[in-house]
Amino acid sequence: MWSVAELPIGVFDSGVGGLTVLRALREALPDEAFLYLGDTARLPYGTKSPETVRRYAEQTAEILVDQGVKMLVIACNTASAVAIDHLRRRFAPLPVVGVIEPGAQAAVAASERGEILVIATEGTVRGGAYERAIRALRPEAAVTSTPCALFVALAEEGWVEGPIAEAIARRYLRPILDERPGIDALVLGCTHFPVLREAIAAVVGSRVALVDSAATTAAVVAGLLPGDLRRGSGGPAPSLRFLATDAPQRFVRVGPVFLGEAIAPASVELVDL
Ligand code: DGL
Repeated sequence: MWSVAELPIGVFDSGVGGLTVLRALREALPDEAFLYLGDTARLPYGTKSPETVRRYAEQTAEILVDQGVKMLVIACNTASAVAIDHLRRRFAPLPVVGVIEPGAQAAVAASERGEILVIATEGTVRGGAYERAIRALRPEAAVTSTPCALFVALAEEGWVEGPIAEAIARRYLRPILDERPGIDALVLGCTHFPVLREAIAAVVGSRVALVDSAATTAAVVAGLLPGDLRRGSGGPAPSLRFLATDAPQRFVRVGPVFLGEAIAPASVELVDL
């Protein structure tokens, strides 16, 4: 018999980067089916105005909702920063989870001194969503935010470690850490940044904890799924399907850097917005 529990969890991002969040979700919820949409035709969201990102996020979420999902995860930091309230209202009572609040929780847990650096896209930094979310949990926190746009291109190119990645990380981060030596936690506030973790760690050193919102987001999603909405174990393997608004072949080629496993070409479908 058909039941809501069998529906997939819908996950969307501006492109392939949100696959880092999908990876954590699959680890936390191995029995769940997932439907992932990458808006590859309109990436990047990080340089666009909040109004445009809100409109794109709504259209992208609509495709997932029309296909049938039991929950919506906004894997994109930029879209979470500017569109979560709008999407929660628009698709109520469907639960909608973003990555900013879980990322802020992880940052507060990782920082002893409350001196936190957030690196993200221009759009996420401009809106100040991470600062607000961190201060809501720890009002005395000192939060610095900076955009690191080149990291997105580096990650998509697969140049995630070695001298080029480290040189760029050094150029972005060293001046801030020299000015604020008390920083003890750094939030990877963009879907693409977790794959650059090693290059970033090589620059910031072991005294700065690197915080990735993916695992905390997965824990929030798991906590929100009541028993009767969970897909049972023991049945057929859960489905994993992908939708892309452009270039499915590129999705198949670049996606594995972020997902951590191969993507079958037949599992990616082109959709139009
Ligand atoms: N997904 C975006 C984010 O997490 C990064 C890529 C983009 O700018 O669209 O902010």
